[in-house]
Amino acid sequence: MEIEAARTMAGGVEAGKGTRFTRRIMERLGFEKQRVKGREGVPLLASLRWKVAISFSLLLLLVVGLTFLAFIRFEWVFLGQEAQKRAQSLARYLAVNARDPLLALDDLRLGPITESINQDEDVRYAFLMDHQGKVVYHSQTERTGVVLSRGVPDPPGGVIQASLPIMVEGVRVGTAVVGVGTDHIRRAVVTTALGLIIPLAVGAGLGILGIFLLAGHHVKRVERLEEAVQALGYGDLRVHVHDKSRDEVGRLTRHFNLMVAQLHSARRQIERNFKETISALATAFEAKDKYTRGHCERVAGISVALGSKLEMDEARLNELEMAAILHDVGKIGVEGGVVGKVGPLSEGEVDDMKGHPEIGSRILHQLTSLQKVSLFVRHHHEHYDGTGYPRGLMESEIPLASRIIHLVDAFDAMTTDRPYREALSREEALMRVREGSGKQFDPMLVDLFFLLEEEGVIEAICEEVEESKG
Ligand SMILES: [Fe+2]
Repeated sequence: MEIEAARTMAGGVEAGKGTRFTRRIMERLGFEKQRVKGREGVPLLASLRWKVAISFSLLLLLVVGLTFLAFIRFEWVFLGQEAQKRAQSLARYLAVNARDPLLALDDLRLGPITESINQDEDVRYAFLMDHQGKVVYHSQTERTGVVLSRGVPDPPGGVIQASLPIMVEGVRVGTAVVGVGTDHIRRAVVTTALGLIIPLAVGAGLGILGIFLLAGHHVKRVERLEEAVQALGYGDLRVHVHDKSRDEVGRLTRHFNLMVAQLHSARRQIERNFKETISALATAFEAKDKYTRGHCERVAGISVALGSKLEMDEARLNELEMAAILHDVGKIGVEGGVVGKVGPLSEGEVDDMKGHPEIGSRILHQLTSLQKVSLFVRHHHEHYDGTGYPRGLMESEIPLASRIIHLVDAFDAMTTDRPYREALSREEALMRVREGSGKQFDPMLVDLFFLLEEEGVIEAICEEVEESKG
């Protein structure tokens, strides 16, 4: 409990925050998929975002293309029907006006009729054929007199033709034929097509842009969930995805969050059980030495507060906490009578006591989950200037957790009664810590320690431990 309080009081940075901040920056720079640890890159062409966007874009282009072709086809058919009606109307006009001249065999009156029709620029030809198939007049004069024994011929390409029988009292006396060209239809269709292409292209382009944006928006939710699953796979049980929508992705996200919360709760329970076991071990050891009552809890609480100030993540804080609780467990292996002995120790006894970091390290090294912790315990009596033991390591050679525990351990020892001396005053102990900066203690940690002292964190932790011990 006091450890959690220490984290809060020290204003510890939430574990993983720095990582998320870095991830956001990397995302903005476009390197997120390649560089961020725990995030496997997805090639653009293989991404769901790309597949969705391309699929809907192709569908949009298909719809736009078919609509365009249908519109052009409709116009072509419509104008063709209009041309057919026009040819029939002109043929009817020709038939009505040519009946009398045809009966009278008056060629002079036939010419002006066909010519008047022929003035229409779309009319390719107009001719009259008598009941024997002889062309009695043709707008193309060289064809006048030709005999069409097989009746009215099919129109040439690009011409819509209408032929109308000329009837007199039920008897067919001739046929009026008019051919209208389709060039004007082609020109109209081409004009329409050119007029449609740019607006349709712009519309399709905007549509595709919208599809990519929408695909990005929707797929981003799946990507966020996928990132969270990956983070979970890497052991981050504090991951949470925000998605309030009620669709399938939203439901999947809520189920995921629930699953993570339950996993987190289960892991916390396991960790709590483990810490309680460790604490019980430490308490059993403390029972051997009445002078160190509550010492391990205070060292653990203040060490974690320092670790939080250093923005250690949760895993490192847990290791630091374990090492702090168990830092003197090696004293179990020191010859009986030395630990807790009243009065000064002999030279041999001092040597025996100096063996406790290595003994503790060997004990803890047998537990797979405490490998790092055993290393921190081994070096918790090293001095920053290299004058400590067991290896005489100095500065950054000493694990950070060991440097932290050493500082806090020394301060707590100074402020509590020991068999060989009474407790120093708080001011005296703080002064000795300051004097030891850069010599016995890491100066950076000393500064942080005094910061915690000014904030009242150290005193609060000590009081809380005292209360918990009754
Ligand atoms: Fe120790």
